[in-house]
Amino acid sequence: MKQKTQTAVLVLIAVIATAAIVGGISYVIISPSEEDTDILEIYHWWTSGGEAAAIGALVDVFEGLYPGTTVKQRAISGGSGITMIPIITALVLAGEAPDAFQMHAGYEGIAYYEADLLEDINDIWTDNNLEAVIPDVVQSMCQFDGDYYMAPVNIHRSNVVWYNLIELTDIGVDPKTIGDNWTAFFDACDAFELATGNDAIALGEAWTQAHLFEQILAGQGIDVYEDWINGVNVNAEIITALNTLNTILGYCNPDLDIPWNVATDLIIQGDSIFNIMGDWANGEFLVATAEYDVDYGTIAVPGTDDMYGLVVDAFQHPANVAHPRNSDRWLEVVASKEGQDAFNPLKGSISARTDSNLTLYKPYHDWTFADFESVTYMFPSVVHGSGAPQSFSSELSSIINGFCLGSTSATATATLITNLAANNAADYTTVWALD
Ligand code: GAL
Repeated sequence: MKQKTQTAVLVLIAVIATAAIVGGISYVIISPSEEDTDILEIYHWWTSGGEAAAIGALVDVFEGLYPGTTVKQRAISGGSGITMIPIITALVLAGEAPDAFQMHAGYEGIAYYEADLLEDINDIWTDNNLEAVIPDVVQSMCQFDGDYYMAPVNIHRSNVVWYNLIELTDIGVDPKTIGDNWTAFFDACDAFELATGNDAIALGEAWTQAHLFEQILAGQGIDVYEDWINGVNVNAEIITALNTLNTILGYCNPDLDIPWNVATDLIIQGDSIFNIMGDWANGEFLVATAEYDVDYGTIAVPGTDDMYGLVVDAFQHPANVAHPRNSDRWLEVVASKEGQDAFNPLKGSISARTDSNLTLYKPYHDWTFADFESVTYMFPSVVHGSGAPQSFSSELSSIINGFCLGSTSATATATLITNLAANNAADYTTVWALD
């Protein structure tokens, strides 16, 4: 592992540089200046209405247990971590890591691990008996080389279509009949646009476009998705997925730079009828006091009905943090039943534990808890840090954004994506077997 350290640091520096160039990001690194020693400092990107409510509830649980500790939350807006990830990478490399930071379980942490910048948390997993209550698929996403480095807080579902039920009912469409059928989906779009003159589908900035592409590709079949993340050539299927994406673009809002929650709000307001987004969107519907199966509802992205797209949020114990005891305490709360049952009903995700109190969850979660148990296939999100290394996710977003903005053809875009997967495959340590 040691010989990988130098490469890992270079990879981390590339993450910062790529994000800064691609996103045109300018930012100020916030350094804690407080003298007080009993502090817990955490970084996250949960700043939308639903996200902020959820992390607030989790922090409340921590503060209830440790009232003498001051929690310093550094919340960096930018969905999917697009702004926070380069900031935190710079801090970690500078030896100024906070006590814990939000990270996706899976590949996202591998460069930190390979550079010896994370401490293993095997003792936390053992002391809290986590293997007994956390599903195997999540357990494996929290490890590197057989040791635990992450404490998971949830399981989000990525392959969700959010719809405005009142608008669909007005145009005589029963969303449940759309099922696994893109044609029925586009027929509903046509009917809505004819009746209202509005764009039927809400879509946001670059990473949300890559998120959409990922779901469409998964809809081509689990074998296609598995081959893609293993670096096997699926160019023809990528072209098919891009053609579907192109049809979707014909129904979308023209301002393809809006944040994910602004796109979700177009559905809440009834300005559009469909938004494809992970189930953090449910938090926004809750904040807007919309009622599930009355005002809005969900189906799986066409082609993915029997699949669960996995996005797992986690925290970890960086090396040499200022408050190691509080870092550990935070991870215990993050992974606890009480913490998860406070956080997840507001966040839209299901708990990463099998012993959660289901009565605390809202109607939306009945669907996801049931599907998590019953679907045949799970697929790890690339865009949200699990299925492939971080560099893959940021380059994919930029390639798909080029396609959505009309600068690259489907054939040229597919070649870029195929080459990206093939080039990255040499760095992969996981060969996924999804079926
Ligand atoms: C995802 C993250 C979710 C949610 C979303 C939008 O990457 O896993 O928890 O925060 O970004 O910000």
